[in-house]
Amino acid sequence: MPIQHPHTVMIPSSSLPVGPIGIFDSGYGGLTILDKIRELMPEYEYIYLGDSARCPYGPRSFEVVYEFTLQAVNKLFGLECPLVILACNTASAKALRTIQQVNLPTIDSTRRVLGVIRPTAECIGNITHSKHIGILATAGTIKSQSYPMEIRKFFPELSVTGEACPLWVPLVENNEYRSEGADYFIKQHINRLLNKDPLIDTIILGCTHYPLLLDKIRQYTPGHIRIIAQGEYVARSLRNYLDRHPDMDMRCKKNGNCRFLTTESESKFKESAALFLGCQDIKVESITLE
Ligand code: DGL
Repeated sequence: MPIQHPHTVMIPSSSLPVGPIGIFDSGYGGLTILDKIRELMPEYEYIYLGDSARCPYGPRSFEVVYEFTLQAVNKLFGLECPLVILACNTASAKALRTIQQVNLPTIDSTRRVLGVIRPTAECIGNITHSKHIGILATAGTIKSQSYPMEIRKFFPELSVTGEACPLWVPLVENNEYRSEGADYFIKQHINRLLNKDPLIDTIILGCTHYPLLLDKIRQYTPGHIRIIAQGEYVARSLRNYLDRHPDMDMRCKKNGNCRFLTTESESKFKESAALFLGCQDIKVESITLE
């Protein structure tokens, strides 16, 4: 049954239009999430939208991240997406709740917007032994306290410590993440996090760009610490959501296609997609958000 809002009329889900699942990120990082989602659910149709022209979102204010994210959601709704995943922790931390509670009821109460913080928060207590968790994320995500708040809803006994890594996204977006210079900043933030709490045994990569840095992150993290990238958790959580909401599942087109939209140039997106997804031959369209 679709959730009923007081100001809306119930429409049977069979008469609602079908469309692709929208995946949004401030740039290329969300491609790490899209990749895992498509691996698990290849039969669905997707539109990926990356706002690379305005990336990074991490240092931006709540107001600006909310405004940019809402523009992206509206764009994806305009392209018939019944369901949009904010594959960006910064947008999930700063904009998701307002969009769900304030905007969706007036835009279209039959559509859904989901984020990437909850899927990892729901599982993390089953992974740690020491009950001490570390979060590496953008300044915006750390400042929002979204991870400690979400994790404590499920596992109130956990101790959660965050470390903002403001240069990591620019290293990835500018394709400098394999350079020697990157090592300095990666090591620095891991050391700072572990100095704050030496009992940490599990680190969440709370930014969708960070899986690209995984090799170097592993290199500077003691071997007993588990490093959790979000992709697989988000993919499993989406599968589970669609199983629990067959009305929404019916509205998600299934033809295996994927379209890519960027606010940057098409050629720049293709270059990065080759790095993030290892694929050369994708169709990209450059768009503007307003
Ligand atoms: N990839 C995004 C995240 O997960 C944001 C990076 C940014 O725009 O700062 O937080």
